[in-house]
Amino acid sequence: MSKVSLAVNGKEITADVEDRTLLVHFLRDVANLTATNVGCETTSCGACTVLLDGESVKSCTVLAAQADGREVTTLEGLAAEHGEMSAVQKAFHENHGLQCGFCTLHPRLRDGDHVAAEGEPVADGGGGALRPGGQHLPLHRLPQHRECGPGRSGGGQVIPPSFTYRRASSVDEALDLAAELGEDAKFLAGGHSLLPLMKLRFASPEYLIDLGRITELSYIRDEGTYVAVGALTRHHDVNTSELLASEIPLLAHAAGQVGDPQIRHRGTIGGSLAHADPAADLPMALTALGGSVELRGPGGTRRVDAADFFTGFFETALAPEEILTAVRVPRRPGVGWGYQKFVRRANDWAIVGVAAIDGRIALANMGPVPLRASAAEHALGSGASAAEAADLAADGTSPGEDMHADQAFRQHLARVLTRRALVQAQTQPA
Ligand SMILES: Cc1cc2nc3c(=O)[nH]c(=O)nc-3n(C[C@H](O)[C@H](O)[C@H](O)COP(=O)(O)OP(=O)(O)OC[C@H]3O[C@@H](n4cnc5c(N)ncnc54)[C@H](O)[C@@H]3O)c2cc1C
Ligand code: FES
Repeated sequence: MSKVSLAVNGKEITADVEDRTLLVHFLRDVANLTATNVGCETTSCGACTVLLDGESVKSCTVLAAQADGREVTTLEGLAAEHGEMSAVQKAFHENHGLQCGFCTLHPRLRDGDHVAAEGEPVADGGGGALRPGGQHLPLHRLPQHRECGPGRSGGGQVIPPSFTYRRASSVDEALDLAAELGEDAKFLAGGHSLLPLMKLRFASPEYLIDLGRITELSYIRDEGTYVAVGALTRHHDVNTSELLASEIPLLAHAAGQVGDPQIRHRGTIGGSLAHADPAADLPMALTALGGSVELRGPGGTRRVDAADFFTGFFETALAPEEILTAVRVPRRPGVGWGYQKFVRRANDWAIVGVAAIDGRIALANMGPVPLRASAAEHALGSGASAAEAADLAADGTSPGEDMHADQAFRQHLARVLTRRALVQAQTQPA
């Protein structure tokens, strides 16, 4: 159990909760603020969005313990403060903004210009409420409006398996905890890869060591020939860094391609690299840029090039009890670059991705690790055109197949996206 204190809509709320309690359930079940909904349970729909210290996050993928001591604003809090729709809500309302549909269900949108006092939209038995424009909203899709109650199969919440939560406030403390707790412990950074995996029971560590409060690991620093980025630096901060925008714009751009704003407010560069998803943006960007990572463990600190860091499908050179502390990326001011990502939905991982800079080409989701398109790079070096080099982009690759693409389609995408990235690198101002 953890004692969690939150300032919710300006009111202090403290409760002893199970360590695995998600923020959304704390808000709904402890604070009784039910405008924060559970829709997809998979960090996609945004129905659970709240403001954490003023920034939007998906509360289905934040532990209540991670939010301890912070300020949370829910939809009820916005209504109390302003009494009218925010600019974003207004724009959604007026322009029929819609992604998957869950996001339009908040009561303030349902009721048009009227602000609902509090609580849930009223279920209407399947037809949906009539918006001012006459269009039905699918209220019946909310889990709490299904006959079987919340959850997909008769009432269960999708929550992680039990674990013990420990919080570290320094790298030394995290290393000590890792040594004490052994192989049953896992580090938790933004939690936007680990918590979804735990909810699906693909991971069930006995202990989570939360690195999220280690402020010494959140920075972006000019170090002469390279820029150093602390491992706990969030995607949002990498994306909006002025230093990176001028010195390594490809990296800033790649961070802006991760998920959606809520995900970028939580996920970290170190977490993304340590997770080593071959479809992810930052491993591909680091590979294209020839960067390296700094790893700290009981035996000291070592540096590993990106080329040697990703060792297999979701596998890295990180040893047990080692923490990824920093990322080093060579400066590339004024060098043309291209970045292409083919996705099915806006906040998805790449079905195939390509990052190109200075004759280097990296591919995402074309193998178990981020790959260099070596044949295309050699052709470029020998004077081939972008189109000629791009024709070789898939040479030597053997990408996996899934519901989105078979191997031949992925190889086709690699060629097309590489051509686009190379043309982009030649033409866009750096
Ligand atoms: C809906 C959704 C869409 C997404 N879309 C994209 C996308 O388009 N592109 C993309 O690249 N990513 C995407 N992601 C992943 C997201 O970027 C994650 O934030 C990121 O992959 C992991 O970072 P994190 O800080 O959340 O790590 P966590 O989830 O906290 O940790 C991930 C793993 O890394 C380990 N770890 C974390 N930090 C360290 C460290 N400093 N040292 C050692 N080990 C560590 C953890 O133990 C865990 O095994 C998406 C995620 C979701 C949920
Ligand atoms: S419930 Fe869909 S993103 Fe949280």
